[in-house]
Amino acid sequence: MTKISFSSLCTHELDDNRTTKPHVLPIYATSSFDFQNLQEGIDIFTGEKKGHVYSRYGNPTIDTVAKKIAALENYGLSGEAQAFLCSTGMAAIHTALLAVAKSGDKILTQGNLYGGTTELFNKVFSQLGIEPIFTNLQSIASVKEALTQHPDIRLMYCETPANPTLACIDLQALGNICKENNLISIIDNTFATPYLQQPLSHGIDIIIHSTTKYLNGHGNSISGAIVCKNEELSKTIWNTLKLTGGTCNAFDAWLLNNGMKTLTLRMDKHCSNALTVAKRLESHTKVIKVNYPGLESHNSYEIASKQMRLYGGMMSFEVNGGMEAGKTVMNNLKFCTLAPTLGDVDSLILHPASMSHLKVPKELRLRNGITDGLIRLSVGIEDPEDIYSDIEAALENV
Ligand SMILES: Cc1ncc(COP(=O)(O)O)c(C=O)c1O
Repeated sequence: MTKISFSSLCTHELDDNRTTKPHVLPIYATSSFDFQNLQEGIDIFTGEKKGHVYSRYGNPTIDTVAKKIAALENYGLSGEAQAFLCSTGMAAIHTALLAVAKSGDKILTQGNLYGGTTELFNKVFSQLGIEPIFTNLQSIASVKEALTQHPDIRLMYCETPANPTLACIDLQALGNICKENNLISIIDNTFATPYLQQPLSHGIDIIIHSTTKYLNGHGNSISGAIVCKNEELSKTIWNTLKLTGGTCNAFDAWLLNNGMKTLTLRMDKHCSNALTVAKRLESHTKVIKVNYPGLESHNSYEIASKQMRLYGGMMSFEVNGGMEAGKTVMNNLKFCTLAPTLGDVDSLILHPASMSHLKVPKELRLRNGITDGLIRLSVGIEDPEDIYSDIEAALENV
């Protein structure tokens, strides 16, 4: 380095002193990247040369984690998928939708979506002239009827298993209908993760994740992902993400990377614990109904068995006695944590009617099985005996 003043030396970055590859992905906490000369800058900007420019467009930490999610979603399938990391699951949903929908389009979807997504459709996208058509996506007859009634449906957006009743949709059947009708298909695969369910194998075009949940698994970062295999759609999504700016930050991407290392271990335990708790709750006298796709009594058991490796860590159950009974159970839990998230290693519980679905119109909520006494449980990886005993003790107060 040529001689510079003391104060300039303080201010300037020195050359990166890296000699060997770090074993763990580093956090690239930099907003931009330097170019060696003007031509390099031009080549990278125009795409002639690979390189990073500015962290809103991605950086090595963000891109490496995105690449892993794409590989997981496309695991065992032909070709290559692309993934984009977003600042939140909601950023992933709205970026993907903004990329592929235009004013005048209708979106075929279901009433039992995550509450935030329903609100996004009703309050934000409807203002842009993009209207949701809520249909029972479990019924192919209803889907066909909606397509006949609304010839301007251009997209299909689904969640399976769905929040919080765990209703499952036949992805192969729905994927086929979307292809036959030239609809772009989008799925929120947050509940299942690519370990349990691979929508790309059923011809679904775009996959969304709230990576805040199972993919991270430890509740210490917020992020989302969009996965797509179609090159043209991927380009549009990428362009939209760059311009709307909902990119993930490097630290949250790094935390997500750490969490994903134990995804299969965690999911196996989440699934076996959930099945144990669901079976025991099913025979409890104060529980009217248990929603878990791994129970033969659940109306999605067959579909889930067909398209999922295991049945997931999410379940819900309805306490006899409505709103009051639901609140009583919530207020008497000591081990499960009352928190409005899911997919963490510890058991989390919420009361949809008074929490996640508070802003969803009651009539729509009830039509989709989200009753006043329904309690949603994100079953953790603790000893299942502790989880069940806590709920059993709380139920004694009802
Ligand atoms: C199924 C599902 N999708 C999307 C979201 C939104 O994700 P985020 O909170 O990361 O924006 C959530 C949040 O709870 C969710 O449960």
